[in-house]
Amino acid sequence: MKPAFSVPVKPVIQAPPLVEEALGDDERVELKARIKRLMKEQDAVLVAHYYTSGDLQDLAEETGGCVSDSLEMARFGHAHPAKTLIVAGVKFMGETSKILNPEKRVLMPDLAADCSLDLACPADEFAAFCDAYPDRVSVVYANTSAAVKARADWVVTSGIAAKIVKHLHRQGHKLLWAPDRHLGEYVRRVSGADMILWQGSCVVHEAFKAEALKKLHAEHPDAAVLVHPESPESVIALADVVGSTTQLIEAVRTLPNREFIVATDNGIFHKMHEVAPGKILLEAPTAGVGATCQSCAHCPWMAMNGLRKLAAVLEHGGNEILIEESIRARAAVSIQRMLDFAVAEKAGRIQLGD
Ligand code: 13P
Ligand code: SF4
Repeated sequence: MKPAFSVPVKPVIQAPPLVEEALGDDERVELKARIKRLMKEQDAVLVAHYYTSGDLQDLAEETGGCVSDSLEMARFGHAHPAKTLIVAGVKFMGETSKILNPEKRVLMPDLAADCSLDLACPADEFAAFCDAYPDRVSVVYANTSAAVKARADWVVTSGIAAKIVKHLHRQGHKLLWAPDRHLGEYVRRVSGADMILWQGSCVVHEAFKAEALKKLHAEHPDAAVLVHPESPESVIALADVVGSTTQLIEAVRTLPNREFIVATDNGIFHKMHEVAPGKILLEAPTAGVGATCQSCAHCPWMAMNGLRKLAAVLEHGGNEILIEESIRARAAVSIQRMLDFAVAEKAGRIQLGD
């Protein structure tokens, strides 16, 4: 019988304008000192994503927190003893922290920091998708709301998606995947799994252009091309390395190339320059023929985070992530599956082969 649900055509998500915090040197020094004092008083630790400002990334490291990809952000916040977790990133990252740490206070500099993938996958539509295919295991990307995670069987991040899907495929499961169609296509290609894909996309990564990238590569033939798998298939096809933000930074650090063309949010250059100071980093093109970019390689929601907002949140309260307990508890199961898988795979208890 034909399921009474058709996967939505690609939803159009309008990104907000890109507004970055601009600070003078004196204000930066004053804000950082004030935030450090408040964090100490409130037993808080800062967990920041690589796409946030260099100021926030530096502050996280100076205060014993971490800067990482979404998988490690979840792990670090869970393992850290601080009573307050400050998540500088986008809303799903704050929610993931709260889901794993219900006893902790989780704050964000700006609760309006969303994500086009999360917005493209409303929980009621995702539930109808699952109901239409009850025989399939549902796998959702971490860039989703707590309610979507609560309905899913598995949550994955870009760093571990292919491994988990390969594992489920080998166990004989057919899958539903949401919301990123490009990451879904990539994972389907490398795993060979039978997957029905939601049609969301990232406004930042979708804007990278294959033809313009080929041209740039021809001008820099020795550069290695690094691509985040939220990018279109035609861009991924040109990559020397496809991976999560942490995996791309590792590639810059370890590959012998002197030049790199990087197809992901340019906030990542801050850490790349730090780990490999002598290397030359070029932004993959988002302009040229067919350019539609809303963000031009920088996420407008990530840019909503800043030192001023962080200081205000610590001073005046507010911006706390709260999740209804029944949703939180169910979402925790599907996230914990991913974390347990990561531990088992690292310990060699899960063999994936090629
Ligand atoms: P990572 O998990 O690779 O850091 O990706 C998160 C993200 O939102 C990329 O756009
Ligand atoms: Fe979402 Fe894309 Fe921004 Fe990442 S870069 S948070 S996927 S909109």
